[in-house]
Formats: sequence, structure tokens, C-alpha cells
Amino acid sequence: MKTIFSGIQPSGTITLGNYIGAMKQFTELQEEYDCYFCVVDQHAITVAQDKAELRKNIRSLAALYIACGIDPEKATLFIQSEVPAHAQAGWILQCVTYIGELERMTQFKDKSHGKEAVSAGLLTYPPLMAADILLYGTDLVPVGEDQKQHLELARNLAERFNKKYNDIFTVPEVRIPKVGARVMSLQDPLKKMSKSDENKKAFITLLDDPKVIEKKIKSAVTDSDGIVRFDRDEKPGVSNLLSIYSILGGTPIAELEERYDGKGYGDFKGDLAKVVVDAIKPIQDRYYELIDSEELDDILDRGAEKANRTAGKMLKKMEKAMGLGRKERKKR
Ligand code: TYM
Repeated sequence: MKTIFSGIQPSGTITLGNYIGAMKQFTELQEEYDCYFCVVDQHAITVAQDKAELRKNIRSLAALYIACGIDPEKATLFIQSEVPAHAQAGWILQCVTYIGELERMTQFKDKSHGKEAVSAGLLTYPPLMAADILLYGTDLVPVGEDQKQHLELARNLAERFNKKYNDIFTVPEVRIPKVGARVMSLQDPLKKMSKSDENKKAFITLLDDPKVIEKKIKSAVTDSDGIVRFDRDEKPGVSNLLSIYSILGGTPIAELEERYDGKGYGDFKGDLAKVVVDAIKPIQDRYYELIDSEELDDILDRGAEKANRTAGKMLKKMEKAMGLGRKERKKR
């Protein structure tokens, strides 16, 4: 069975973007692959986090994985900082990464732009992400489009390490969904929807109240020509809403264009709000059952145990390949 790894940062409550670009794929893929899904809390601290909020978000994201349909009997769900091999392997991979490669990452440029105090972690985050993936012998990494460049680096690092030290890593493939790989902000459809956007109206989270969801969709930026038609360049706002509608409602975009022909944005947005609420409501119900349960802790304990076992073996191979530590002693 082939292996999948993917992770999500607990840097806020996940958005419709994370759900459509990543989580929805995960639930489909768990049937056919040996899956590892991770709450990557060590990635979240590359920017300042409030301690109590972070704790809350870590648990909340773990509960959301399950509420969205991750089955802990099929997939391994765990928290990154509970598996120390990630940080250890991340360090090793930093030592085979060139600074120039890191400085070229667009996400680093975006996140550090204009800021005075930028953490070194923000720059060296991609080798940690590569470690996350390579520790599990991962074949496939399902992500949204914004992670493509990081994935290319992970592939390069795997190849470089294999060539220089020992051929131990599987070189992972990336899997990006055909529709919904880049869900855009509701307030600025030229920007991706992000859970850390300062404008809360720009994104919908999976835990937003139905009334709030309706309001956010109704105030989503569109255009003034009043025609529901998909055209990313000329009508980015409407096109983004059409994509969300199509994916969550299971209706092809062409059919939606026909359905709303001659109707205004009001009807369209009203129906879209219903589609989004219908998709999210069962997730929220399951989430509230889980969030304070022991069941969640048991799942995460089991997940960390399994991940530690798998990742620990690969870390040993990495250390051996590079000549770290002493030779293993024969058992007497
Ligand atoms: P993060 O937490 O920013 O996002 C988690 C996943 O959601 C996808 N995504 C989107 N997809 C569509 N439209 C959007 N607007 C949107 N916003 C986010 C992301 O592409 C991602 O798949 N570095 C990663 C986390 C990570 C990881 C890994 C991923 C750490 N280690 C190993 C895969 C494998 C990140 O910051 O994702």
C-alpha cells in the first residue's frame, strides 16, 4: 500500500480553503492509502502565537480532522511536537539545504515582507516540512496549490540526500486538486483565502455560526455586471463563489451558470450560503461531540505512538547515512 502524508497548521480555525484544498482530498484518499495526517504545531510557531490560543487550536484542529471524516481506524492522526523525530530530521535536512533555496520561497517572501522581526524559523521551515514528509517514506502529498514550491524543495532535498549519503528516501509526488486548489479571499478575490487574514470577513471557518456564514457570503466582493458566469480573469469574485458552490454542492459550474442565468447575485449568494451551511453543519455537530472527549485523546495517543515508531526508524537511517553518533553495539 502506498503512503500519504499531509499536514495543516493550527494557526487558527481551518477555513473553507483548507477544507476544499486539503481536508476533502484527505477523506477521499484514506480509503486507498496508508495515511499519516498531522497537526503541524511546530510550523505554527514560526510566527508569534498566543500560548492559550495555540493549545486550543491544536486540539480543535485534531477534532476537525475527525469531524471532517478522517477515520482513525484507517489513518494515523497525530500532533507533530509529540513526535520528536520531526524536529531532529528537520535539523539534518536544514544542513543539506542552501540558504538561497530558502530565500527564493514565495511564502517566505510574502510572510516576511515589510516586517522587522522575522524569525529564523520562518526561513528554515521548508526543510522541517520536508522532514515531515520524508520520515514516512511518503509516496504522495495532497495539498493546495500554495504548497507546490515547498513540495518541489522536499523532492530536491530527498534526491540530494539520496545521492550524497545513501539512497533511503522515497521521492514524493504532489497531488493538487483540479478544482478548488486555490480558494480565494471573499473580500479580495485576487488573494488566497487564509486563516490568518486580519479581515475576518475574508474567510469562512469550519466553526463559523450559520448566520455568520450567510453574512460573509452576502458581503463577498463580486462585480457590477450582475451575471453569474465563470471567468477567473474578468470576474474573479463570482468565479471563486462558483467554484465553492460547485465543489460543496456537487454541481458542475456550467449547470450553475445556466441555473442562475437572468437572476442576480442575491439569489445566487443566498443559495450558496445554504450549500455551505449544509456542508459544514454535520462537521460542526461531530466536532462538538469530540472536542472535550477522552476518545480524542486516545486517538491522538495511538497516532503519536504509531508515528513515533515509523519516524524513529527513518531518523536512525538518516543518522547512520550521515555518520552521526556511535556505531550501534551488537547485543550481548
Ligand atoms: P496550511 O496550514 O497553510 O494549509 C493546510 C492545507 O490547506 C491548503 N490551503 C488551501 N487550499 C486551497 N485554497 C486555499 N485558500 C488554501 N489555503 C490553504 C494548503 O495548501 C495545505 O494543503 N506548510 C503547510 C503545512 C505542512 C505540510 C507538511 C503540508 C507542514 N508540513 C507536510 C503537507 C506535507 C501549511 O502551512 O499548510
